[in-house]
Order: sequence, then structure tokens, then C-alpha cells
Amino acid sequence: MQLITGSVSEKRIKVEPAENGLEGTVAVPGDKSISHRAVMLGAIANGTTVVTNFLPGEDNISTINAFRSMGIEIEQNGTELKIHGRGLRGLTEPADVIDAGNSGTTARLLLGLLSAQNFFSVITGDASLRSRPMGRIVEPLRLMGARIQGRDDTNRLPLAIVGKEVTLEGRYYPTPIPSAQLKSAILFAGLYAEGETTVKELAKSRDHTERMLKLFGADITVDEVGTTITLKKADRLRPCNITVPGDISSAAFFMVAAMIVPESRLTLTNTGVNPTRNGISALLKKMGGSIKLDKQSGLSGEPTADIAVDSNTLNGVEISGTELLPAIDEFPILCVAAAFAKGSTKITGAGELRIKECDRIAVMAESLTAVGIECEEEDEGIIIHGTGGKRVRGGRVESHGDHRIAMAMAVAGLMTQEGITIDGADAVDVSFPGFFQILNGLRV
Ligand code: S3P
Repeated sequence: MQLITGSVSEKRIKVEPAENGLEGTVAVPGDKSISHRAVMLGAIANGTTVVTNFLPGEDNISTINAFRSMGIEIEQNGTELKIHGRGLRGLTEPADVIDAGNSGTTARLLLGLLSAQNFFSVITGDASLRSRPMGRIVEPLRLMGARIQGRDDTNRLPLAIVGKEVTLEGRYYPTPIPSAQLKSAILFAGLYAEGETTVKELAKSRDHTERMLKLFGADITVDEVGTTITLKKADRLRPCNITVPGDISSAAFFMVAAMIVPESRLTLTNTGVNPTRNGISALLKKMGGSIKLDKQSGLSGEPTADIAVDSNTLNGVEISGTELLPAIDEFPILCVAAAFAKGSTKITGAGELRIKECDRIAVMAESLTAVGIECEEEDEGIIIHGTGGKRVRGGRVESHGDHRIAMAMAVAGLMTQEGITIDGADAVDVSFPGFFQILNGLRV
């Protein structure tokens, strides 16, 4: 029996209950965060950067298009890219507004880079991105000397950046919230800023930017804890060959699927297990899950492994904001793991989740309730009363244009009596084109 009916092009998919365990080996697509950074740094390096296992999801295509509009030649052949970088001063004024689509990373990291360019540019995005706060990025850039204007007192896109005749000055900036997008925007501006730029974080957010800046030859130092990063103004960046590891945030959907569907065993090959991203493994282990990392290795400065997951009864636990930080994008799928655990799971300190691609706390509470899972929404988190491995009824949910809501609820559908219909299932193309085909291929 097919697990999946409907199609992404029809924007509606039904996930049927899994009658047997899931088995197989999946090579999840390349990491979204790393793919963005490879294009951005490749574009301002001197020479050709080759990227292998690039993620050709909609968000990353927004980044490619932005750089093409600034005169950078980028050859794309599926998951292979050749970026013909023109140096730190090689970007040219875009002839039109840059559309970051649904991609917060594109918009926010570009704000940092564009602040330092000797031209005028405007960034906008889709309705979801235009509702997300940008003030947190604009404030430190302005302190460095950037000239940015825009809607809602410069807190929302569209934002206009007047780069002409602007000289940025390096600064010490303690960020009010741990955010890799904020940190990276400051560091990208810092490449052009006089003197030194230092970012100090309250807790360590994902560090792909720091790792990749090192590969490209930037003068960057990170303290032992990883929360103070200092970057000197750059003269030039060297081009690199980058192989992007599989995205742990995409692997997470299959990890939880294997965990909650009885008699399952899945292996996710060549997946990025950077400790600032792999919080999902730690949290699933805390819930009693069985996860093994095999073939531990590294790709382009990032640790990788094959992740083997067996089905297991999970237990409800308490999860704090600190524990969630390295699994910040895994909130929706963690909620699904909690939904089938024994006992209640309480997630706290997750206020940032309200300003992601959608309000993920509200939408997960609504979606879980719609399919028969008991939960309580809180201001900064959620309490989920798990079924202890029992199937739930199922029903119909809406992705709210959020790729991770669509994929999380698809996984929940496997453990229902009636299946789950997902409206707006096409959102998965933002980060994981082909997700439903892979899921369908895992039935035994
Ligand atoms: C990202 C950082 C995180 C994450 C987002 C990607 C990045 O956002 O949620 O999906 O690539 O830097 P914040 O910086 O807002 O936490």
C-alpha cells in the first residue's frame, strides 16, 4: 500500500498510516544553512568556488538569484555549483528589488553583506518573511555605520540599503538573543569593516559561518566556549571546494519516523552532526531513543556521520530553551516525537519559535489537536501529552506555508488510524524537494 497519495503540485498530500516498520538508508539532501553560506562567500571570493551536494531547495535558489542579480555568474547542474566569485568589491548594483522569498537566512545575511557595498539595494520577501522582525539585524549594522531604511521603523522588509560612500567600523556587539542569522550578518559586514568586529553570544548558536569563513581564509578567531567571535577586515577571500554534508534538520524527520513507527530501522548517511546543530540526537536520547553515529568523519570543516535509528518507546521529558538551541529548527518534529512518547513533554524557553516561518508554537498546538493529540500551548512553549506509542485518529492540517510543519505532520500521519491530509504540502520544496517520494520509498 502507498504511504503517500496526492502530490506536491496539487498542494495536497495524504499520508496513510504505516502498517509495518520503516526500513532503509536515506541520503538526505545537502544542508540548507551551509548551502546558503557557500554561495555567499563563493560570490565574494577571488575565483571559482565549486560546491558539491548543494541543496537546490527554494530558499537556496533565492540566494543564487540574489547573487546573479548582482553580476555573479553561477553555473548550476543539479546539486553541483560553480560560483565565479568576483572578490569582495565585485558585486554590482542589482537592477531590481532582491526577493528573498521565504528565506530568512537569505534576507538577514544579505543585509550584512549589502550594508558594506558601494551601491543601493532593496530586499523583500514573501508574506511570511515580510512579517518577520529585521530590527535585530538592522540595529548592530547601524551601529557599525550602515544606512538602512524600511517599513515598520526599519523592522520589516522591504528594507533599502544605501551603501554608497558608507564606511563601516568594526564594533564589539553583545547579541541580545543567540541567533546564527544575526551573528552571521554582523560577521559578513565585519569582512568590510575597519578594524575588528566582535560578536558575543549568550549561548552558542550554529557556527557554520565561522567554520566557512576560516576555509575561505578570513582572519577569524573564536574563544574556547565558542561564544566570542572576532573577525578582522579582509583584503581578499580564497575560493574553495565545498562538499555540503546532509542536512540534520532534514534527517530529523526520518529519525523521528524510525523512532515512533514500531519495528523500524533507518540509516541517514553522510549527515552533518555539528554539535551546534545536532541537538535532536541528544534530545531523542534523553527521551530514551536509540541513536548510533557510525562512520564519523568530516566534510569541508563540518563533522559528519551515518546516523542509525531504531524504533523505541520514548518517554516524556522537560526540554529547556538551552537544550532546544542546537535543535531550534526541530521543534515541530520534536513535538511529534513527544506526541507518541509515554507521559508528558514540556518544552520551555522557545519564544523564538513564534517568529519562524510561521508561529510554530501556535501552529503545532493547532495541528496536534486537529489529529487527536492532547496538548497545551504556553507563551514560550508547549506541553504535549503523549499516547505512549498508541496511534491517534488523524485528520486534516494546514502547513501555513511552513515546510517543517508539513514534514512534521507527515511523519505524525504514519502513526494514525485514518491518516493525515496536509494542505499546502508544496511548502516542503523550501528545504526538502523530494521528501514525500523518499518517505514513500521506506515502506516495507
Ligand atoms: C539559520 C539560523 C536559525 C535557524 C534558521 C537558519 C541560519 O535562525 O532557525 O532556520 O542558517 O543561520 P535564527 O538565527 O533566527 O535562530
